[in-house]
Amino acid sequence: MPLSKAEIAARQIRTALALPAVVDEAMKLSAQPQCDSRRLADVISKDPVLASKLLQLSNSAFFGFSTPTASIGEAITRLGFPRVRSLAMSISVGKLFAGAVPRGDGYTRLNVWRHSVAVGLLGELLARASPLPAARELTGQALLTGLIHDLGMILIEQHTHGRYAELAESAQASGVPVHELEHRKFGYDHMALAAVILTKWRFPGPIILAVANHHMTTNPDTGDPLSLLAALAEYMGHRVDVGYSDIPGIPDESIKNVCGRLNISEPDLDTVRDSFDEQIGGALKIFAVSE
Ligand SMILES: [Fe+2]
Ligand SMILES: [Fe+2]
Repeated sequence: MPLSKAEIAARQIRTALALPAVVDEAMKLSAQPQCDSRRLADVISKDPVLASKLLQLSNSAFFGFSTPTASIGEAITRLGFPRVRSLAMSISVGKLFAGAVPRGDGYTRLNVWRHSVAVGLLGELLARASPLPAARELTGQALLTGLIHDLGMILIEQHTHGRYAELAESAQASGVPVHELEHRKFGYDHMALAAVILTKWRFPGPIILAVANHHMTTNPDTGDPLSLLAALAEYMGHRVDVGYSDIPGIPDESIKNVCGRLNISEPDLDTVRDSFDEQIGGALKIFAVSE
């Protein structure tokens, strides 16, 4: 089968984008059914930055634990393997978004990251708000999906040597979703490119699928719960307008459908919005990447 344009672009992206060895090892280990937290703690402790960030996260109000811990093993037990996996991945992916301090909300890597933190937080809150067990158990994954959902934009930026900012800015000015302009100009979009790279990094399949579906460009009325959460979080993320927010391009009718499928009501959305307003400041601090 011939390679897609997104696959060709992914091949040309620098290999510097490989996941750090420690995160790769931690991911493999935590995916094993018989993994124990001591072995995972040993692996994570090899990377002091990752270890201290994980401790900081496990002690933050965001996860609601009342007593702080200084032990990586304890932090892993508290958070659980899937969440540790998600956080380790998002911490390492977040580094790719470091860039110049943004002025205003225009396209910069840091502004895309700020939007990604907003979409991650919304995804987590929406998963908690849904009465469906299939959605509720996705809280950690919905957070990670939001944090990495627009990773493809900065990958295209890298591939096109900086010409991307102009395209992203013109999307904002014209009101045309950036993924449509990407298609016109490059023949692929940020969702397709991210899906190829995340597959290379061996991210879990449902997360790759949700990243690919966050603009609902395919099958608008069907979808797995994580894809539905990602699309709804992206839609709300555009309204809360934190950082550089790409235009979702999802019709209001489809969003009503998504809410129905997740069993999330209008008042639930208001509650999510209130919690978001309370927590976004803290979340931006927790997931801050160094400039
Ligand atoms: Fe996007
Ligand atoms: Fe987005």
